Amino acid sequence: MARRKKIYEGKAKTLYEGPEPGTLVQYFKDDATAFNAEKRDVIEGKGVLNNRLSEFFMTGLSQIGVPNHFLKRINMREQLIRAVEIIPLEVIVRNYAAGSMAKRLGLEEGVVLPRPIVEFSYKNDDLGDPLVPEEYIIAFGWASQQDLDDMVALALRVNDFLSGVMYGVGIKLIDFKIEIGRHYEGDFQRLIVADEISPDSCRLWDIETNEKLDKDVFRRDLGSLTDAYTEVATRLGVMPKNAAPMVKPTLIN
Ligand code: TMP
Ligand code: ASP
Repeated sequence: MARRKKIYEGKAKTLYEGPEPGTLVQYFKDDATAFNAEKRDVIEGKGVLNNRLSEFFMTGLSQIGVPNHFLKRINMREQLIRAVEIIPLEVIVRNYAAGSMAKRLGLEEGVVLPRPIVEFSYKNDDLGDPLVPEEYIIAFGWASQQDLDDMVALALRVNDFLSGVMYGVGIKLIDFKIEIGRHYEGDFQRLIVADEISPDSCRLWDIETNEKLDKDVFRRDLGSLTDAYTEVATRLGVMPKNAAPMVKPTLIN
């Protein structure tokens, strides 16, 4: 079998050349990293869960007209996506104080914010993805003012959608990160949601108990990450009925 061409390898995903021009295959690994990869582990089954969850969220976004990169799921760990030029920014939306915002402003985690807040970090691991003002983004040419307006609008639509979907299954969407890419169609270019949407890039708390059901379980050593993500997938009805076991079965001769 011909070897596929690897286009890019990130911390949690690998991108391969797709079957047609303008497409890529996105492979979800089991690797978990935090704090700029200072903390790392392999969490068996995480890639399978995130592949399914990202498919679920992106498909829902498509149904309400929010453009994104998802085309179809190929198998347990892979999906076909549109190739885009990623804008080197992490677009973060916060509904409640948590994480770096809580730390920066001395806020208690879980305090509701006056309104959803959109912020941008410059995607650069060596620098620790620093928060950047819009002025920097325009001055350094990472995006134009029009792009920024479009990115904020996209991010807020994703926020409304995700908040509603999660609320429906008893989960509070505290905050999340998306990445946005430029998609070229002939002479036209538009911004679409790319990368992934999964509990790796969201903060999700149970509405009743505030139990964390996202990557903070790994960052803060709060228990089993697979259990937390499985809980999210199960509540959303995303896991297939005959879900493959998370642990590889032993072969018996
Ligand atoms: P923060 O509170 O650490 O800034 O994170 C805000 C949200 O963005 C949180 O849901 C986690 C997500 N995030 C990522 O997915 N990747 C990252 O590199 C960072 C910094 C945050
Ligand atoms: N900074 C992000 C986190 O804390 C991602 C990473 O460092 O791998 O999860």
